[in-house]
Amino acid sequence: MDDKVSSSPTVTITKNGPYAVVGNLPLAKQVIGTDARGDSVKWLADHAYPPQARYTLCRCGHSSNKPFCDGTHRRIAFDGTETASREPYLEQAKLMRGPAMSLTDVETLCAFGRFCDPNGSVWSLVNQTDAPATRAAFARQTCDCPSGRLVAWDNATGNPVEHAYVASIGVIEDPAKNCSGPLWLRGGVQLVGADGFKYEVRNRMTLCRCGGSQNKPFCDGTHAAIGFRDDG
Ligand code: FES
Repeated sequence: MDDKVSSSPTVTITKNGPYAVVGNLPLAKQVIGTDARGDSVKWLADHAYPPQARYTLCRCGHSSNKPFCDGTHRRIAFDGTETASREPYLEQAKLMRGPAMSLTDVETLCAFGRFCDPNGSVWSLVNQTDAPATRAAFARQTCDCPSGRLVAWDNATGNPVEHAYVASIGVIEDPAKNCSGPLWLRGGVQLVGADGFKYEVRNRMTLCRCGGSQNKPFCDGTHAAIGFRDDG
């Protein structure tokens, strides 16, 4: 691969194989932190993997060296066909307009992080965003949605509200559900399909690493249903 081409942070989906990562993207576990009621309330940064300029991440869910690929996809004849919509986020999104902030939602991108649920859920909170405390909770909960399914918008400026992430990849763990979750692309990493298609660049995206999503390459929450575990 040409190093000039590979220097910007890019994740390329290989046909029925792993994610090929270039551009010195930091890789670290990111754990869903819950409160006493079991609600998702914060992200906890955990083990950081040694820096590598390039690496390959398992997409079939069966590597013995997770989160990295060990070639098992070939032995199990993994079908990694990309089936997700390639339309830009806003063309797929439903809009809910509140008094001070608004919410856009693409349900098919849900990665089951559950940050949307506390305080009566963001779909309810958006209608009360004229109250400062509610507005803050709404913005925080929406921004913590790892997949970018949910985006909060400031009505006054028309701009999205986002955490400022550096380009990086999180390896999500969900101890409250006793499972491992998707790969969390943060900070505008270019995702390229196996056919060379360039997906829309976004601040938050979650990629399936259990192999079971029906909306590949994106996570659809199946990892929780099948009890996917990365015990590495
Ligand atoms: S990692 Fe979430 S569906 Fe595969």
